[in-house]
Amino acid sequence: MPTVYIDEIAKFQGQEVTLQGWVYNKTAKGKLIFLMLRDGTGLIQAVMFRDTVGDALFESTLALTQESSVRITGTVSEDKRAKGGFELQVSTLEVVHLAAEYPISPKEHGIDFLMEHRHLWLRSSLQHAVLKVRHEIISACRDYFDNMNFTLIDAPIFTPAAAEGTSTLFETNYFEDKAYLTQSGQLYMEAAAMAFGKVYCFGPTFRAEKSKTRRHLTEFWMIEPEVAFCDLEGDMELAEGLICAIVERVLDKRREELKRLERDLSKLECIRKPFPRLDYEDAAQILKEENSQFVYGDDLGAPDETIISARYDRPVMVTHYPAGVKAFYMKRDPERPDRALCVDLLAPEGYGEIIGGGQREDDLDTLLSRIHEHQLPVENYDWYLDLRKFGSVPHAGFGLGLERTVTWICGLQHIRETIPFPRTISRIYP
Ligand code: 4AD
Ligand code: MG
Repeated sequence: MPTVYIDEIAKFQGQEVTLQGWVYNKTAKGKLIFLMLRDGTGLIQAVMFRDTVGDALFESTLALTQESSVRITGTVSEDKRAKGGFELQVSTLEVVHLAAEYPISPKEHGIDFLMEHRHLWLRSSLQHAVLKVRHEIISACRDYFDNMNFTLIDAPIFTPAAAEGTSTLFETNYFEDKAYLTQSGQLYMEAAAMAFGKVYCFGPTFRAEKSKTRRHLTEFWMIEPEVAFCDLEGDMELAEGLICAIVERVLDKRREELKRLERDLSKLECIRKPFPRLDYEDAAQILKEENSQFVYGDDLGAPDETIISARYDRPVMVTHYPAGVKAFYMKRDPERPDRALCVDLLAPEGYGEIIGGGQREDDLDTLLSRIHEHQLPVENYDWYLDLRKFGSVPHAGFGLGLERTVTWICGLQHIRETIPFPRTISRIYP
């Protein structure tokens, strides 16, 4: 008799199978028990009759608590009314473990309580849906780059120097020395692009974000492509294509999960190329019209991004920010040297920045003077400067923040539910 998963149950109609999982729910009616079984791939109702299984098994099944683990053998039957369309007529049941009183019940719990119990909360159906969408997005990103012959190159986690400003570095002891947790794999991807042409990395990145917001984690995952012989325009096309590939994939494969999350699918269905492009000047003009607190010359704040992105039904790309508010490695616009050849992609519906990137400074002397201007310790960047000594070429790339993307795709209010075990300024447990 085959042991199967709930998501393949349709293939076994009329047959006897064994399912292994956890008791999600239980109701008893006279000589009948309905068990809702969860196995990670789906939910199915198992029906047990006292007359079929005998008194002893019926009584021990009555005593099963929520989240007890079981093996159930029974016959698969079609039931149009049942969730998923199938039901299991139980012939026997083996208790693997009788669960202690489960702390999460269908009643409303506060977010702090749920976060304290994140290791258990992952079993709940909405959390399950979010993480299934996350998985699909990761898979879509990898396929997008792999199908264009990019090479996956892993960046290190321990790094000697900052990539994205020194104020958010996590410092750690490294034997007799100091090291920092990586803020971005970009600088390493630049080296890799000179070796492989088109590369990407996908890994955890760390920022000591001291602000408590709905968009910031201290540990988040980034997909970072980098391409040799690529300019800002090529970079933007790559970013646009990636977002369309993600949206297409989740609409194709994760519709059910998105519906469970009550996501308005029409908001995703209207996303297609080309995305509107705004120069920093255009963005500043919009903010002026909307009476934002925004000060011309500054970086856009989260509320500013919300105002701008709320104007469009698809992602917006904002380019050419003042160089002063951007990182040291950004190439300047030759026609307006106070502007960076950079792009931020803002997700619609007010979700704000999910991608940051641009063209990199490829001239040795210019880059060296930027490192000095930013008061960065030049000796830690010797290897990076080498890339401008040995066949330097125009190149560009970007970073897509995975959790912000999941927040937007799922239509969530807060980033904390988009990663299995969130790390924020106030949380490192569980
Ligand atoms: O705009 P950022 O800082 O760009 C970089 O790190 C570049 N070095 C990437 C590159 O060009 N290779 O970060 C990129 C993205 C942001 O758009 C955002 O989606 C996400 O990373 N991000 C965060 N996500 C969650 N929590 C945080 N604290 C984040 N900081 C950035
Ligand atoms: Mg950014």
